[in-house]
Amino acid sequence: MSSPARITTATDLEVRNPLYHEWREVFGHDAVYDSRVRFEEEIRTGSYRRSPSIEESIRPHQARIRCVSRYSWAVPSPEIIEAIVRIDSPIVEVGAGTGYWAKMLRDAGVDVVAFDQHPPEPDLAANHWHKNTTQWSEVIRSDATVAGDFPDRTLLLVWPPYDEDMATRALRAYAGAGGRQLIYVGEGPGGCTGDDAFHEDLERWWVELAYMAVPQWFGIHDYATFYAHQPPLELVADSQ
Ligand SMILES: C[S@@+](CC[C@H](N)C(=O)[O-])C[C@H]1O[C@@H](n2cnc3c(N)ncnc32)[C@H](O)[C@@H]1O
Repeated sequence: MSSPARITTATDLEVRNPLYHEWREVFGHDAVYDSRVRFEEEIRTGSYRRSPSIEESIRPHQARIRCVSRYSWAVPSPEIIEAIVRIDSPIVEVGAGTGYWAKMLRDAGVDVVAFDQHPPEPDLAANHWHKNTTQWSEVIRSDATVAGDFPDRTLLLVWPPYDEDMATRALRAYAGAGGRQLIYVGEGPGGCTGDDAFHEDLERWWVELAYMAVPQWFGIHDYATFYAHQPPLELVADSQ
């Protein structure tokens, strides 16, 4: 598999990964991705401003609202794209939305099949997450349980809804078919992403191998976490 093409200039970045470019425009070119660490740094360096103007306060929120619908609900940094390239596995992505993550990965040489129950298109009201927008790369119409047809690929879930069981059904279909590798991008239990049963399944059936922060908007705590399927220890013990 080839290495991801290096992004060298700001203009290059704007063209190749416009969502990441927009995030950088809002937070600055040296800003760290993790909002907690960012806050600690601002306090330590004295750059934190307790009373920003109203315009300064709402600008990041306006940018986020504009970006999530047009691009993706999570920002793919060059580092997470490179990390996914390095695991050297084809990907099946479900709930892929506009196909923005799929495009970033495909551009970096990763073999991705991407699905969504309502691939966005102009004037399509059915996908309220991505209204009146278009796809960045091919997303095929299918329910998330299609993950069960691709157990030999790594399952990618980016910002699955917290108030629908899509993530749980996708994960169970995938694991039930023998799928063993998962990359989940979103928040932890009780957060904005993934339903409760999904987080319970992660806790019980999957072991966390590694994680990294991806660029976080204000109030959002997104991480990309790599998991491997592992039966609970008591079941392993029982079978011996
Ligand atoms: C919050 S959006 C995230 C989209 C994309 N992953 C992103 O990060 O921008 C949730 C997506 O899940 C899709 N979705 C919801 N239920 C689904 C299901 N049962 N099967 C497939 N996709 C589903 C929606 O259509 C929507 O595109």
